[in-house]
Amino acid sequence: MTFSRAIKIAPSILSADFANFGAECQAIEAQGADWVHVDVMDGHFVPNITFGPTTCAAIRKHIKGVMDVHLMIAPVDPYIDAFAQSGADVITAHLEAGPHIHRSLQAIRAHGVKAGLALNPGTPIEAVAHLLDMVDLICVMTVNPGFGGQKFIHSQVDKVCSLRTMIGDRPIHIEIDGGVTVETAPLVAAAGADVLVAGSAVFKGGSVADPAPYGANIRAIRSVAEAAQV
Ligand code: DX5
Ligand code: ZN
Repeated sequence: MTFSRAIKIAPSILSADFANFGAECQAIEAQGADWVHVDVMDGHFVPNITFGPTTCAAIRKHIKGVMDVHLMIAPVDPYIDAFAQSGADVITAHLEAGPHIHRSLQAIRAHGVKAGLALNPGTPIEAVAHLLDMVDLICVMTVNPGFGGQKFIHSQVDKVCSLRTMIGDRPIHIEIDGGVTVETAPLVAAAGADVLVAGSAVFKGGSVADPAPYGANIRAIRSVAEAAQV
C-alpha cells in the first residue's frame, strides 16, 4: 500500500448479499472498487451484529486489493491478533471503544497492519492530536455507526476540514464512512477526504448476476469527488 491522496472508493459489504460475500467482493473489484470496506459489529459497541475474524479470513481469499476492516467492537485489543491473521490490510478501531486507544493502535501496527482510528460524530478531533504519529488513517463517521443507509450528518464536513489542517503533510488517509452519495461525496472530498466508504450508494440497483450498476455507481461517486478534490 503506497500512500496517495487520490480518491479511493471503498464499497462497504454491509450492503452486499451476506450469503454471497465472495462473489460480491469479486464483483465490486471488477467494477472498479479501490478498497473493500468490511464492517465488524458486536451488538455491544453498536446496536447491530455482523460477523467476526473467521468471516474476514474467508472474504480475504476473494479480494485482490486492500481489505479495510472497520471494527465497531469493544473491547478491541483481545481480537486484534485474529483480525490481523485474517489478512486485513487496514484495521480501524474506534477512539470511543476503550480507555487505551494508543495501545490498540500500537498493537495493530505491531502486526504490520495499517492502523486506522475512527471517530463517532460526537467526538472532537482534539482527541487525535497526540495520536497523529500512531495512525495511517482517520475515519470520520458521518453517521452514527451500526447501520447502512443512514442520512449523512452535515456537521462533520467542518470536522474533516479541521482534521485535514491538523494532519498537514503527514501520510494519513482521511476516510469518510456513512451516507456517502453523489450529493455528499463532493463536500467531503473538497474538505480533504481521500477514502470514501459507500454501502447503499454503491450496491443500489445491482447484484452479482447484474453487477454493471455497481460500476456505474462507483464511477459516478469517483467522478464528482475527483472534481471537488483540492
Ligand atoms: C456504518 C458502517 C458503514 C456503512 C455505510 O456503521 O460503518 O460502513 O455500511 O453505509 P452507507 O454507505 O449505506 O451509509
Ligand atoms: Zn464502516
